[in-house]
Amino acid sequence: MSKLTQLPAWHALWDHFNDAKNLHMRELFDSDPARAERYSLEVGGLFLDYSKNRITDATLQGLMQLAREAGLPARIKAMFKGEKINSTEHRAALHVALRNRTNSPILVDGEDVMPKVNSVLSRMGKFAHAVRSGEWLGYTHQPITDIVNIGIGGSDLGSLMVCSALKPFGHPRMNMHFVSNVDGAQLKETLKKVHPETTLFVVESKTFTTQETLTNALTARDWFVARARDEKAVAKHFVAVSTNKKAVADFGIDPANMFEFWDWVGGRYSLWSAIGLPIMLYLGEENFTELLNGAHIMDQHFANAPFEQNMPVLLAMIGVWYINYYGGGSHVIAPYDQYLHRLPAFIQQLDMESNGKQTMLDGAPVDFETAPIIWGETGINGQHAFFQLLHQGTHISPIDLICSLQNSSSLPGHHEILLANVFAQAEAFMRGKTADEARSELEAQGLTGEALEALVPHKVFAGNRPTNTLLMDRLDPRNLGSLIAAYEHKIFVQGVIWHINSFDQWGVELGKQLAKTIHAELAGKLKSAPHDSSTKALIERYRRANAQ
Ligand code: F6P
Repeated sequence: MSKLTQLPAWHALWDHFNDAKNLHMRELFDSDPARAERYSLEVGGLFLDYSKNRITDATLQGLMQLAREAGLPARIKAMFKGEKINSTEHRAALHVALRNRTNSPILVDGEDVMPKVNSVLSRMGKFAHAVRSGEWLGYTHQPITDIVNIGIGGSDLGSLMVCSALKPFGHPRMNMHFVSNVDGAQLKETLKKVHPETTLFVVESKTFTTQETLTNALTARDWFVARARDEKAVAKHFVAVSTNKKAVADFGIDPANMFEFWDWVGGRYSLWSAIGLPIMLYLGEENFTELLNGAHIMDQHFANAPFEQNMPVLLAMIGVWYINYYGGGSHVIAPYDQYLHRLPAFIQQLDMESNGKQTMLDGAPVDFETAPIIWGETGINGQHAFFQLLHQGTHISPIDLICSLQNSSSLPGHHEILLANVFAQAEAFMRGKTADEARSELEAQGLTGEALEALVPHKVFAGNRPTNTLLMDRLDPRNLGSLIAAYEHKIFVQGVIWHINSFDQWGVELGKQLAKTIHAELAGKLKSAPHDSSTKALIERYRRANAQ
C-alpha cells in the first residue's frame, strides 16, 4: 500500500464519499442560499466560483486534511526555496523565481538565481525594444515584420498560447508564426507568408537536441541563406533560446544571439523565461512584465493563503476528489474566449506531461489514479459538438469554464450571448432536467400519451455534473499570468498528493529512441533492425511506396 492510501484522511474521505456520493447539487443549492458566496474566491483579477461541485463543507475539510497529511505545506516551501524537488533529475523547479517580482534571493546550490534572471530579462527587453522600434534591421536594412518561432512542446505552446490570447496587445507591425511540426507542411506554408529581409527566426529548445526543432531550424536557415546569399546575414535573422550554449554554437547561431535559461526551468513551465522571447517581441517588455506580475500575485497567494481559501489548492483538491474517489478520468478546459483557443492544448501539456505518471517518488508503483486526460476546445464550439456527452453521456468529466467579464472584440451584442452561454451551461450541468420537468415541457408543446412518454427519458438530464467557473475581469497580461500560474500550482499540488515528480517526463523518451532506429531504416541507412511483425510491415509498406 502506498503512503497516500495509508493516510487517515484518505480513509476518512472514503467514508465520507460513501455517505455523500449520491447528493445532488440541486439539493445542496436549495438548502444553502449562501453556497455560491461561500464557495467562491477572488485573487487579483481572477474570480473562481467552485460552488457547482459535488462537495460539502465536510468534503472540503477532508480534502484539506488530506493535503496536510500528504505533506503539502512542506512541499510548497521546498519549491519556493529552490530545493531540488525534481528528484529524478536532481533539479529545482523554480519557475516562481522567473516572476519573483520582490527580487528576494532564491538560492540554488548556494547561489542566488535572481541576478541572472534579471540580467536575461533585461537583455530580452533591450532586444525586444530594438526589434519593435525598428532599430534592429534585417540584412537589407528593413525593420522586422514577422517572427517565426521554431520550437515544440514547452518551447512552442506557452508563447503560442499567450501571443494568441493577447493579440489585442500585440505590435501592429509584427506577425507571429509558430512552427513546431516536423511535417514540412507547416514550415513550408509559413515560409510562403514571410520575406527573408523582414523575418526573424527564434529557435527555441531547452536541450537544443530536439530533432523536430533542429530539422525545422536547419531547413529555415537553408531557405534564408539561399535567398540572402550571405552567411553573415544569419546573425541579423536567427536568434536562439536554450540552456545549451555549446549546441547553439555548433548549430551555427552566434552565442551573442542566444538568450539563456537554466535547467531548473521545466520546458512546460518556461514561458516566463527567455522562452517567452516571442511574447516579449510581440507584446513588449511592459506587457511581458505584467504577465510576470500576474503570475507573482498568484504565487504569493499560493504560498501564503490558508488552504481553505487558496485557489490552486482548492482547484487541485476538488480535482483529486473526482479523480480518486469518483473515478473521473478526464477534465475539460473550455475557454469561452476565442483569444484563448490554444489554452486547452497548453494546459494539456502542462498537466499530462507533469502528472501522467505511475511511479511514486520512492520508485514504487501508484495504487490510485493520477493525472486526468485533459482535453477541450473553445466552450461555445464545444457546445455544438462534444457537450452532448458531457450532459448526457456516461462519464463524469469536470469542466473549467473560463471567460472574461469585459468584451475583448468590441463588436456589440456578442459578449452578452457568449457569457449567457457560459452561465447557462454551468447551470444546466448542475441542475439537469428531471423527468417531471421534461414531461411538463413536452405537454406545453402539445404532446400527449405514448408519444410523450416515449420521449421523456431522452429529454432527461441527470445534472450533478461539476464545473468551475473562472472569470477574469478582462483578458489582459496580468490576469492571464495569474490564470496560468493558478494551473501550474494546481498541478503541483496534485503531484504532491500523489507523491509523484511533476517535473520530469521520462515517458516521452522511448518513442524518440525507437524513432532514431526506424528513421535510419526509412532513410536507407540501416537495412533492418529487429521489430515486431506489425512495425516491420509498416516500414516495408513505406519503403515500397517510396521506391515507386
Ligand atoms: O519530448 C518532450 C519535450 O522534452 C518536452 O518536455 C519539451 O517541452 C519539448 O520536448 C521540447 O524540448 P526542447 O525545448 O528541449 O526542444
